[in-house]
Amino acid sequence: CPRARPDQKKAAVNPNIKKNVEKVVDMFDLEDIGDKVAFCRCWRSKNFPYCDGSHTPYNRESGDNVGPVCLSRKK
Ligand code: FES
Repeated sequence: CPRARPDQKKAAVNPNIKKNVEKVVDMFDLEDIGDKVAFCRCWRSKNFPYCDGSHTPYNRESGDNVGPVCLSRKK
């Protein structure tokens, strides 16, 4: 379950991903990323840190406009 810090003043962006760690950081070697990849920025993906399309229902329900950051390799 999400933990609130005593000094927390604003709503958390991250609702439930790795709430047991101080900071969520994901590292990748560029060589291991294929020709393209989409990383989640809505924090709702079931396959975080990758986008799984969960931003669409989240945006519909919240009125937000978030989407993934997409990387592609030049050809
Ligand atoms: Fe989070 Fe797509 S699922 S940006």
